[in-house]
Amino acid sequence: MAVFFEQSNRIFTLQTNHTTYQMKVDDMGFLLHLYYGSKVSGDMDYLLTYYDRGFSGNPSDAAGDRTYSMDVLPQEYPVLGTGDYRSSALIIRGADGSQCCDLRYVGYEIKKGKYGLDGLPAVYANEKEADTLEIFLKDCVNGLSVKILYGILEEEDIITRSAEIINSGDGEVIVEKAASACLDFITGNYDMISFYGRHTMERIPQREAIAHGNHVIGSRRGTSSHQYNPAVIVAEPDTGEDAGKCYGMVFVYSGNFMCEGEKDQFDQTRVMMGLQRDLFHYPLAKGESFLVPETILSFSDRGFGELSRRYHRCIREHICRGRHAQQKRTVLINSWEAAYFDFNGETIINLAKEAAELGIDMVVMDDGWFGKREDDNSGLGDWQVNEKKLGCTLRELTDKVKELGLSFGIWMEPEMVSEDSDLCREHPDWALRNPGRNPVRGRNQLVLDFSRKEVRDHVFAQICRVLDEGNIRYVKWDMNRSLSDFYSVNGGSGKIAYDYVLGVYDFLEKLLRKYPDILIEGCSGGGGRFDAGMLYYTPQIWCSDNTDALDRLWIQYGTSFFYPVSTVGAHVSAVPNHQTGRNISLNTRAVVAMAGTFGYELDPGKLKGEEKEEIKKQVKRYRQYAGLINEGDYYRLSNPITDTCGAWMFIDRKGEQILLNVVMLGNHGNMPVSYVKLKGLLKDALYEETGSGKTYYGSALMEAGLPMPVELKEYPAYQIELRKTVDR
Ligand code: GLA
Repeated sequence: MAVFFEQSNRIFTLQTNHTTYQMKVDDMGFLLHLYYGSKVSGDMDYLLTYYDRGFSGNPSDAAGDRTYSMDVLPQEYPVLGTGDYRSSALIIRGADGSQCCDLRYVGYEIKKGKYGLDGLPAVYANEKEADTLEIFLKDCVNGLSVKILYGILEEEDIITRSAEIINSGDGEVIVEKAASACLDFITGNYDMISFYGRHTMERIPQREAIAHGNHVIGSRRGTSSHQYNPAVIVAEPDTGEDAGKCYGMVFVYSGNFMCEGEKDQFDQTRVMMGLQRDLFHYPLAKGESFLVPETILSFSDRGFGELSRRYHRCIREHICRGRHAQQKRTVLINSWEAAYFDFNGETIINLAKEAAELGIDMVVMDDGWFGKREDDNSGLGDWQVNEKKLGCTLRELTDKVKELGLSFGIWMEPEMVSEDSDLCREHPDWALRNPGRNPVRGRNQLVLDFSRKEVRDHVFAQICRVLDEGNIRYVKWDMNRSLSDFYSVNGGSGKIAYDYVLGVYDFLEKLLRKYPDILIEGCSGGGGRFDAGMLYYTPQIWCSDNTDALDRLWIQYGTSFFYPVSTVGAHVSAVPNHQTGRNISLNTRAVVAMAGTFGYELDPGKLKGEEKEEIKKQVKRYRQYAGLINEGDYYRLSNPITDTCGAWMFIDRKGEQILLNVVMLGNHGNMPVSYVKLKGLLKDALYEETGSGKTYYGSALMEAGLPMPVELKEYPAYQIELRKTVDR
């Protein structure tokens, strides 16, 4: 059991292998945060201090004690209305119009296993792996109850947080802001590392000090977005890749979010992760409740690398589900960059024939196979196979592909509708739009109101017909625009952002239940919805529409801070690259794509004989290492944004097999040699480089590193396998 409650002083302690989290119900019934960090013993309530602070109010039941103020005390779930002037985790508008809430402790319950969240993705874990703590708080004036949920995965050093807001009063209340996690730090300075970007350049790390005032990132796009990922690191200023203290906060949600970091007047820091406050105004009738999506917390006192590996394990084993989640992924070839919209059935067969020769497992028919879809201006919503374009039925096509020894995958964008589509002509009111206004277009398409069951049911039925006709093993679930018309006939403007996401989850859950064998890869213009929420339904996500190997080094580097390699969709594409125009060698492109689910996105028919031979070897090489890549521990060995090379390694859980990957980035006359230092080895063990037979001590590889060749090539890449031979 990882949860302890001391009745005498009402202290809750959550213990994981390497961390302690502690909180206390004080004499006034407020739930105060005491500590989160490296493992400690004893009660930490001695950290609380009380002084009369000017302009910091005191609750009336403090009975004139001017040293007691919520404006200063560290809290678990701060609400607006108690005299705390910092940012709140929860803002409630009561039936009487007042914006005030005062939550006091009512009780708790400890349960075996990890709680689930109805309709929302969440970390899952069985009774041996996790415990749940529920703490009940109540406002005795408006009757609002809050159940704060903690999931503790002791072995994984993971603590999850969520909250259920229950209107147990008489009138309607409105949830105006809701976060699921708040970390109050009584002391210390912190940086926030967030991951910003844009379409085709996602998740670039940015480190900033959390200074006085508010540092806020988030999304108002209806999806988690290319622009900011819903995951941050909060680190002490001297924390780096291998040393120092840092906290992770990962939101398990795929829509509008907000993460705030604030240093207050007494130099205390508050960091919160939750739903975006803008475009949110969620009414709860008497008896109704609202679930705040979960945040996954973790702490490492050994730098970002260790923090990342904790998240990798958690996401791989406790978020990703289904039979594909733990399996070696299929090597696929996708038609998008090979043919775009310009294909027919024969093109796909030819792609499959070429792919079969190369040893590839699956061909994916991307956008363009349905309705009237010759370009991206029409057809979305009409999920009927365009047999005229294909020149055959879907069944015929998938059967032929099967005869060639390949499985078949298909692209879909179920949440969307083109104005030029039968669906939109029949049901113009199914697209999100503000009353009396024309909707904002994105990629010339509109967004279906997925909060409405009849809309979801209609699309679901169409999609099932397609999946039932063909012999389909994989679906690429795309989503190619940001939401902008946040209004639904189903509840106006304040609910739709949240209800839409729940509708998407509901659809995906049904799809997974009906087709448990189909692997779904998420996508939103590449990495516009790359989050832990989607990974609960789609165990891999197309990481970026940018397939340029050099840009991918940056994108995959940023992605690796939280998301395991097994979730990262990565393909080798043609050169000159379609997004950057860069010419990078086939070997380098493959080494980079092998830090992902691996596949191809090009027309092999246009390749030279020797290139095809090279691809055959790459596919074999990937298969040889797929287990190590997908399940091994991942170490970042350099920062490709600032260093002369991009370097990373995989090591199996037993520590016996290592795959070192290096891409040289600097290219200058008379180049200095780059040395790459390995990590995570035993210092006294001997490791043999399998290619050359050379042996090295772990200490040498970690302290001095391996010299990389200086070659007259642009961006050469190396993959070096090492095996532990003698363990001393
Ligand atoms: C998005 C995806 C691409 C491709 C196109 C098809 O941009 O990210 O991979 O599927 O849509 O329209």
